[in-house]
Amino acid sequence: MKPLRKAVFPVAGLGTRNLPATKSVPKEMLPVVDRPLIQYAVDEALAAGIEQLIFVTGRGKGSMEDYFDISYELEATMRERGKSLDSLKGTRLEAGQIAYVRQQEPLGLGHAVWCARHLVGDEPFAVLLVDELLWNPVNPSISQLAETYREKGGNVISVLEVPADHTHRYGIVDPGLSTGELTEVRGFVEKPKPGTAPSRLAAIGRYVLQPEVMTVLDKGERGAGGEIQLTDALAQLIGSQPFHARTYRGARYDCGDKAGFVQANLALALERQDIGAEVREFARELLG
Ligand code: UTP
Repeated sequence: MKPLRKAVFPVAGLGTRNLPATKSVPKEMLPVVDRPLIQYAVDEALAAGIEQLIFVTGRGKGSMEDYFDISYELEATMRERGKSLDSLKGTRLEAGQIAYVRQQEPLGLGHAVWCARHLVGDEPFAVLLVDELLWNPVNPSISQLAETYREKGGNVISVLEVPADHTHRYGIVDPGLSTGELTEVRGFVEKPKPGTAPSRLAAIGRYVLQPEVMTVLDKGERGAGGEIQLTDALAQLIGSQPFHARTYRGARYDCGDKAGFVQANLALALERQDIGAEVREFARELLG
């Protein structure tokens, strides 16, 4: 079994649900407390032992490249003023650790992943959707999936049970045998029409995948919403590769949704040593 060393971050979407902020700021650069969403996802991947990070970017996403660069002017000025550089920790990665490819048109998540095919090569790879902030500092979601991959091989995705009236927003699993947190995936359907979902088990933006999915994506088939869907490509691999869904344990904030984004800020601010008490006091006063 090949080790999991690579992760793909599709960050080329338009982020229309977060407009107007995302008109000039990439969704992935929106801050939760004081770190942009992309930093949380990168930290999660590194914690799982991922060595190579592949960003699939698009127009207007340049600030993400700058963010993981060295800012000599800023660092020099901070040093001159006697300020600690600790706040920049995490933004500096090893030279060559991040590679960028471009998705020229946002044709869907499957297409974004396919744009990384030459960098992925013939190795397994993780996919992290950055607007899903999965917060489990002890055992992050990708680490949970990596563990299952080492046990079972094949494709593994993170899932959570969602309310029945939300299933049309997600990729939904048709479940086979289930033991504890693990469920065999018998089918996988993107955004099923209301009332037709095979279960309430929804994919929440973390995957460990086999490179064969790229061959399926080569066909460029369109699915729900006219987009090239990762879900549809994975569904075609069922039967030829093991495919498991692992129920995620931890907090989840869908930051592609306005309410989820505000909740993430509040929850993570409350956990912070430096500002938690002040925010808690404010929230108490606000709520009476
Ligand atoms: P979303 O559908 O949540 O993101 O895709 P979006 O399209 O940017 O947002 P809305 O729906 O318009 O508000 C999940 C992730 O996949 C990336 C997005 O950047 C996001 O991080 N994505 C999506 C791409 O990279 N390319 C695409 O063609 C579609």
